[in-house]
Amino acid sequence: MDKFSIHGGVPLQGEITIGGAKNSALPALAACLLTAEAVTLERIPPVRDIATMERLLEHTGARVTVEGERVTVQAETIERPEAPYDLVKTMRASSLVLGPLAARCGRARVSVPGGCAIGARPINLHIAALEHLGATIHQEHGYIEAQAPGGLKGGEVHFDRITVTGTEDVLMAAVLARGETTIHNAAREPEVVDLAELLIKMGARIEGAGTSVIRVTGVDRLHGAEHRIIGDRIETGTFLAAGAITRGDLTVKGCEPEHLRAFLAKLREAGVEVTEPAPGVLRARVPGKLRSCDVTTEEHPGFATDLQAQFMALMTQAEGISIFTETIFENRFMHALELARMGANIRLEGRRALVAGATMLSGAEVIASDLRASASLVIAGLAAQGETIIDRVYHIDRGYEKIEAKLAGVGARIRRIS
Ligand code: EPU
Repeated sequence: MDKFSIHGGVPLQGEITIGGAKNSALPALAACLLTAEAVTLERIPPVRDIATMERLLEHTGARVTVEGERVTVQAETIERPEAPYDLVKTMRASSLVLGPLAARCGRARVSVPGGCAIGARPINLHIAALEHLGATIHQEHGYIEAQAPGGLKGGEVHFDRITVTGTEDVLMAAVLARGETTIHNAAREPEVVDLAELLIKMGARIEGAGTSVIRVTGVDRLHGAEHRIIGDRIETGTFLAAGAITRGDLTVKGCEPEHLRAFLAKLREAGVEVTEPAPGVLRARVPGKLRSCDVTTEEHPGFATDLQAQFMALMTQAEGISIFTETIFENRFMHALELARMGANIRLEGRRALVAGATMLSGAEVIASDLRASASLVIAGLAAQGETIIDRVYHIDRGYEKIEAKLAGVGARIRRIS
């Protein structure tokens, strides 16, 4: 199992280019199952979760051609409308094929995702939404079986709580359902908007993506299209936090500042000077001391839960007490215990974490527990004295493309130990 070795203390200087958003690329790939024609997606990040999704598409019978970051999928015929346990257990987002397969084939069989390091993460809301579109769903032998032999039909979907992949799943089902579908309490994440834009290029009729009410008029068939995935807002925020913790001068290119306004506002509140020197470019410097600030994670456009861990690493270096409240996932403070092993002063109280700073961080051996927790340990390692060894970096490889190479390119002393 690969590890990272990091020697902290070097201010990061220079430019990093952001890749396509993993969480946009995953539903976009699943959407390719909705048509027999070829769909070409640009800026697909070569990370492990994407490779898993590509294997899943191939399992259904689709042809997947990867040329660098350009991926073409042609699902001319679907031989196996199913997501087997082997793939779902390594990536929960496999459940994103449920909606498209049910819509295209009138049936789908998807392994039920198990628990996950950050919380229970059930898919009950995806299931209830598909039932509103006329699917009959039952669970047996660890699999969810959806049946809609006569095809899906439009309906009213009210999500009990906001769910990102749930919204995406039902959106992909609704585009081929007969009649009109209204999705209430829909997720407003940029990734949902990106998916809707792809679907519209494929011939879907969708209004309201990016708001909490999405209206879809079903069409008989979709066709091929070309689409470029948006920049990854979480990768963007991760590198900005990394630059700030080292008191460097870092510029990130190819990002979409509009997609992370709440995070940028917190960086500024903390004393980081963030500027936008050109469209799609952000620059961060720390002219004085870092100040503590409180963070509550929320659905978009609030502060993203996927940036909570990275911001917490930064706040260990801020003067004062920062209170973190995690409202999206019930167990997303695993990084706090590892950060404490590096010298951070963090107290956990249920869904809140109190970080008292600034504390000196010292390099230690730590374990990555999930994707974003691992990123926060990398950030802490960049500021720590001495060597930090991060074990189980396969978690980070799921969602970051060569993070060590990108960081080394701006001066970090980081290397992968295979
Ligand atoms: N939830 C339910 N039932 C459902 C669906 C969700 O109770 O059927 C709960 C979840 O357990 C959670 C909350 O609703 O407490 C929100 O979960 P959501 O469904 O929005 O999360 P997700 O769609 O499974 C996506 C991202 C996550 C990101 C969350 C929140 C993808 C592939 N994943 O997950 O990304 O944290 O939205 O923004 O888009 C990551 O990239 O590291 C990551 C975990």
